[in-house]
Parts: sequence; structure tokens; C-alpha cells
Amino acid sequence: MAFVHKRSERTPLMQKTKVPAKVIAELNRQMNHELSAAHGYRGLALWCSDLNLKGFAAYFAKQAAEELAHAEKISKHLDDRGVMPELAAIAAPKQNFKSLFDAAQHALGMEQANTEGINAVYEAALAAKDYPSQVLMQWFINEQVEEEAWATEMVERVQSATCAGSLSDLDRHIERLLADEAKS
Ligand SMILES: [Fe+2]
Ligand SMILES: [Fe+2]
Repeated sequence: MAFVHKRSERTPLMQKTKVPAKVIAELNRQMNHELSAAHGYRGLALWCSDLNLKGFAAYFAKQAAEELAHAEKISKHLDDRGVMPELAAIAAPKQNFKSLFDAAQHALGMEQANTEGINAVYEAALAAKDYPSQVLMQWFINEQVEEEAWATEMVERVQSATCAGSLSDLDRHIERLLADEAKS
């Protein structure tokens, strides 16, 4: 279709800043990383649901939706700047855990890996003097502080819930928190 002009193939007329190749590569990598984090959280949610841990399942499902929104944010940034985002294959997530503590630690590990990925994009954006992606990544850097804080808190709370009874109390507590959040 000759009349179709792809944004990714035309010379940007309005934008004076071309996105540097290294930054494009890093943004694409991070977008796919966010998608695989969403997949990872979905795996965690399913495992919790299978154990009837409805609060944890709902919480991980909410995180999965947030990771998808993060991927979308990066995708839109590239698209807005005339670059077609490149989707990669996503590996199957971990869906079996030794314990809830193991699952919580897995979530924390995913967040820490995500922070490293975001820092790498930011470093590339700084080196290339690409200001728009620096600003975008500043939002993500800030977001990761919160994400790592809740994941750490979850690991600590699960660790201090020593018996099955206190774990299900914790699960119900999360369920109630999410229900209140949904109401407000
Ligand atoms: Fe994220
Ligand atoms: Fe996250």
C-alpha cells in the first residue's frame, strides 16, 4: 500500500531531536522487560490463587496490570518520536514456588532487576544527551523506589508471619486493603 506512510519510516519534520540508536535499543529492551515482568506477576498471581491466597493473587494481578502500563508508556514514547517499538518473545514465567516467602522474594528480585534495567536506559539517555528519554526515565526511577519499598515490605511481612494462620490473616488484610482502594 504505497499511500500508507509509516511514522517509523518518514523523516520527522516536527521533531528536531532524532532518537539515538543506543537509546532506541535500551528503550526497546526495557519495554520488553516490563512486559516480561507483567508475565512474571501473572505467574505469581496464578500460583497464589491456586493456594487460595486471594489477597496476594489480587495484589500480584494488580502489579501485572501496572507493568503492562509501564510497557505502554515506553511504547508510546517511542511511537510519539517516530520509532516503531519492537516486541520480543517473552519467556514463560516462574509459576512454582517453595513457599509464599519464596514467591515474595521472587517479586522483590523482579523489581530489583527492573530497577537495574531502568538505570541502564537512563545511563544511555545521559550519554547520548537525549533529554526526552531522560525525563521519561526519571519518572520510572521514582516509581521503582516505591516498587522496591512495597516488595521489601511484603518480604518482611511474609517472613514475620510464622504460621499458616498468620499468613492467611495477612492475605485477608491485603484483600481488604485492595477492596478499600477500589472503593476510594
Ligand atoms: Fe515496571
Ligand atoms: Fe514493578
